[in-house]
Amino acid sequence: MATTDHETLRILMNHRSIRRYKPDPVGDDVLLQLVQAAQMASTSSGVQAFSVISVRNPDTKKKLAALSGNQVYVEECPLFLVWCADMHRLEIAGTVGVGEPVKSARNTEQFLIATVDVALAAQNAAIAAEAMGLGMVYIGGIRNHIDEVSELLGLPELVYPVFGMCIGYPDQEPLLRPRLPLEAVLHEERYDDTRQADHISAYDQVYRAYMSERSGGKLTGSWSEAMAAKIPVPARTHLLAYLEKQGFRLE
Ligand SMILES: Cc1cc2nc3c(=O)[nH]c(=O)nc-3n(C[C@H](O)[C@H](O)[C@H](O)COP(=O)(O)O)c2cc1C
Repeated sequence: MATTDHETLRILMNHRSIRRYKPDPVGDDVLLQLVQAAQMASTSSGVQAFSVISVRNPDTKKKLAALSGNQVYVEECPLFLVWCADMHRLEIAGTVGVGEPVKSARNTEQFLIATVDVALAAQNAAIAAEAMGLGMVYIGGIRNHIDEVSELLGLPELVYPVFGMCIGYPDQEPLLRPRLPLEAVLHEERYDDTRQADHISAYDQVYRAYMSERSGGKLTGSWSEAMAAKIPVPARTHLLAYLEKQGFRLE
């Protein structure tokens, strides 16, 4: 393996979400590099169906922090990026291409394409940020009040915010959050359901120790317990109506 590969892997394997930042600003030079890295992510048929809104204005960050469930680091981070799936620009492209309005299908496949495109782009930016010594955390909380967020940022039809991202120089060094045993997620040739429960039980042990260390002994719950509490709850049930309002026909 080439040295650069090792360096990239080192960065990937050292990832942890950062939720406390130094006040040092993140300059435009850095922002442009992050977005260029994002733009080089693979993109379905070259559609590049994403836009990213950089927010540094303290008042806007304060509003976004409140709309995200009072996540203070949204306000405190020097740079907040809102990653949006964007099918709007493609309709403009269609018009440029043939000289008359072209309406996209706006269906589930296009919704998925745009959502995947923005996620891949954002993760490229996240890795680039970490390679540059910055820290980051995704903020799915911006979907809590997605209508208000869209209004605040002036999002047109066919553009929707998928998640935000706090970026700044880390002022903490959290523990690495352990992941499932590799065997739980890697299947050879065919999906193997025979040992999932064993892998999960093994993970629960590791996870409990992590939670206990992270919380100074206060939290000792297992991952499987956390998932059991989480998965039955239908979160953010407003999203379908919102997406329809933004112009999608999910069917
Ligand atoms: C799409 C997405 C949304 C997330 N939303 C939030 C969020 O709103 N607030 C937060 O503190 N962390 C959020 N996270 C961070 C996850 O909690 C974190 O990545 C996960 O616990 C694993 O920890 P690690 O990133 O430190 O390895 C989000 C992560 C993803 C991928």
